[in-house]
Amino acid sequence: MDHSNYVIDEMISAKSIAARVEELAKEISEYFEGTDKLIVVGLLRGSFVFIADLAREFDLPVEIDFMETSSYGNSTESSREVRILKDIRGEIEGRDVLVVEDIVDTGHTLNHVVKLLKARNPKRLKICALLDKPSRREVDIKADWIGFEIPDKFVVGYGIDYAQRNRNLDHIGAVRFVE
Ligand code: IMP
Ligand code: MG
Repeated sequence: MDHSNYVIDEMISAKSIAARVEELAKEISEYFEGTDKLIVVGLLRGSFVFIADLAREFDLPVEIDFMETSSYGNSTESSREVRILKDIRGEIEGRDVLVVEDIVDTGHTLNHVVKLLKARNPKRLKICALLDKPSRREVDIKADWIGFEIPDKFVVGYGIDYAQRNRNLDHIGAVRFVE
């Protein structure tokens, strides 16, 4: 099948995302209340829109850092082999850390990143993912906060891409290939 022609069916509206982001930020701010600083580690590139919205709702002193892992390339299938393309710049030893991911799919990416960061002895390390596809999980990992649980569909928008496109959509949509 030719994968160049596709349409995007809306799955989660911009309004629903905004409402959920506000709730998540409130819960996370409450959890980390009193922290001297929360280091927010965004996984590039898919989390950039989510992290921008989430971080602006936090009622906490925040530092923003980024890590980039190898992606799917132009495919919709996970490679399962995770490589770190860019590490965070700051130290996290003895710090409060929140890892922010766009989607937890097979779980390999998050599992790898969390292991690596935990080895640096943060004080607390928690995970927030905008989307979760639990039916696709291959390794046992769960985010502490999840925006939305979604079915096994390939999605785009709100930072998330298909072959680097559609990251700028303001909502989340499912990709449907057409002839
Ligand atoms: P995992 O390692 O299989 O859990 O994959 C996680 C990464 O795959 C996410 O950070 C996304 O970048 C990407 N990914 C997983 N599902 C989708 C999707 O439906 N659309 C776009 N990217 C996805
Ligand atoms: Mg990603």
